[in-house]
Amino acid sequence: MKKPLIAGNWKMFKTADEAVSLAQGIKAGTYKNQDALVVVCPPFTALHAVCKVLQGSNVSVGAQNMHPETEGAFTGEISPAMIKDLGCRYVILGHSERRQFFHESDTFVNEKVKTALKYSLIPIVCVGETLAQREAQSHLTVVKNQFDVSLADLGKEDILKCVIAYEPVWAIGTGKTATPEQAEQMHAYIRRLLTEKFGAEVSAKIYILYGGSVKPDNIAILIEKPNVDGALVGGASLKTESFCAIVDGATEKCSAGAK
Ligand code: 13P
Repeated sequence: MKKPLIAGNWKMFKTADEAVSLAQGIKAGTYKNQDALVVVCPPFTALHAVCKVLQGSNVSVGAQNMHPETEGAFTGEISPAMIKDLGCRYVILGHSERRQFFHESDTFVNEKVKTALKYSLIPIVCVGETLAQREAQSHLTVVKNQFDVSLADLGKEDILKCVIAYEPVWAIGTGKTATPEQAEQMHAYIRRLLTEKFGAEVSAKIYILYGGSVKPDNIAILIEKPNVDGALVGGASLKTESFCAIVDGATEKCSAGAK
């Protein structure tokens, strides 16, 4: 059984001071919990301070994005070497907000995944369909394309160092969670794609997170699905109480042998 992985994506919220108090709250709220993997992803401006607060704790830190080059003339961008240097272990790549508002393609995401791995950063690679794509019944094809291109050229050793997050765009920030059955259908499909490409043994080890309006009151019914290994949480990760309640909810369900 895998420990559940709960990651908070703070998006463009929290000044450095606010981020430090949230990180302190989460550290205090999760320090007894050895049965979950907990990650927080603050904005770039707070990474340094949050990494310092969480050093040596149960909580790992991730960045929300990075450029695929190590360094260079890319005004406004942040390199994998820079986030690694601060103490980050994870990096979110290909989030739908990056795809939608900053026109990031699957090929660009793939370049980032490959450099992240070179820097021993664990990429959390996001995939997911829009409402129009779901209504057109093309959600499986859309996610397969994102999967194939974003994770192209990776070997077994590489994919074992990746996390995949299924985030249906229509469920992000809308309060409209995918039903546990909808989430499980897509997670099982992603697991099948992983098995076809990397074999059953490798596929079973890979974390597939669900993201989209995850809250303390719906984590239990999502995490009990066999292929839901954790959650990528937006809005509810911005408050200590709700984020810690999600971590505890997932842990209790998994420790109770629900899966
Ligand atoms: P919400 O939890 O606010 O819907 O955001 C999900 C998300 O985008 C996490 O990356």
